[in-house]
Amino acid sequence: MALNPAEAPLRKLMGPGPMDIHPRVYRALTSPVIGHMDPAYFKILDQVGEGLRKVFQTQNRVTHATPGTGTSGMEACVANLMEPGDQVLACVHGYFGDRIRQMAERQEAEVTVIEGEWGKPTEPEKVAEAFKANAYKVITVVHAETSTGVLQPMDDIVSLAKEHGVMILLDTVTSLGGVELKADEWGLDAAYSCSQKCIGCPPGLAPVTFSDRAVEAARNRKHPIRSWYLDITLLDQYWGSTRVYHHTSSSTLNYALLEALLLIEEEGLQNRFERHLRNHQALVAGVEAMGLEMLVKPEHRLPTLNTIRVPEGVDEAKVRGYLLETFNLEIGAGLGALAGQVWRIGLMGYSSSVENVLFFLSAISRALAIQDYKTDLSAGSEAAMSLLNA
Ligand SMILES: Cc1ncc(COP(=O)(O)O)c(C=O)c1O
Repeated sequence: MALNPAEAPLRKLMGPGPMDIHPRVYRALTSPVIGHMDPAYFKILDQVGEGLRKVFQTQNRVTHATPGTGTSGMEACVANLMEPGDQVLACVHGYFGDRIRQMAERQEAEVTVIEGEWGKPTEPEKVAEAFKANAYKVITVVHAETSTGVLQPMDDIVSLAKEHGVMILLDTVTSLGGVELKADEWGLDAAYSCSQKCIGCPPGLAPVTFSDRAVEAARNRKHPIRSWYLDITLLDQYWGSTRVYHHTSSSTLNYALLEALLLIEEEGLQNRFERHLRNHQALVAGVEAMGLEMLVKPEHRLPTLNTIRVPEGVDEAKVRGYLLETFNLEIGAGLGALAGQVWRIGLMGYSSSVENVLFFLSAISRALAIQDYKTDLSAGSEAAMSLLNA
């Protein structure tokens, strides 16, 4: 049956993304479309670059947003940093680490994989061993693995990469704007994210940042960059001072991104990280007090994406269907190796709120009760509230 866009359901978005959008970002989306070579538009683009530098915590000149979703940022980083024959070490402990590996292989890089258990981070000892055994050009890491809910500790990997002169390519799709991320301090050479998660926009843009060393390496390759659209040396001519036409940049999406970045600045990055952490801790306390179990150990949990084990005997798809139909609440299914085993609950950007934590606890309790699975909702709400001081 046809659906008029004006009749699209108003969902509460608590899956792996997209997330709910702040009203100011919606308003920005209705600003008038202007040309991609208009001097007024260049002011918007410059401010987007500045805002992203603050969120990535970098001085990198080449910091902007590629057109397309997070995957376009991934493709931009991989295509610019890798060429045939390059030695690449790929850390894979979830669905998205493997997507980077696939992309690297399509660039004909020589890829070695550190295969990790889903639900755990990559062990730095394995990286150290690999760096001893071979000289790598690039290591690829997923900071926040959305398929498992694991936050990768970066300190050891960062010092090993520095020690061995290896470039770091980091996926920050589920961390940028939600958890601490220090591109310059960590010496990242290429990092990408998306607009629709912790940043708080609709999907369609992929924030990226490239170190000077990465841009230099892209300029001095043996083979041309195998993506014209995402060639950072060409994109830089449009984003940078020369303003050479490259593609018809979406003014609408960039207005929204700029408004979202202004909201982040008003809140303050540290306050924003604390909000994400507090709501995550409250959700976990509530879930556990209700008798449900988290997939990931406390020390490796990602504040922005929470994976809850599906209890024995519960039909997980029915739970999601019930939440969507009855409460207009979207949560995520398990992905890849975890399909059918977990639910993925996103608390990112505008969706990371006290109201959403409490709403989720009561909604899931009801959805489970329908399947005769009893949970203690009042213990769950009490545990969550006590952490929120609400
Ligand atoms: C960690 C990670 N990397 C990459 C992507 C791909 O992003 P997109 O779906 O916006 O293309 C996602 C999407 O959820 C993700 O979670």
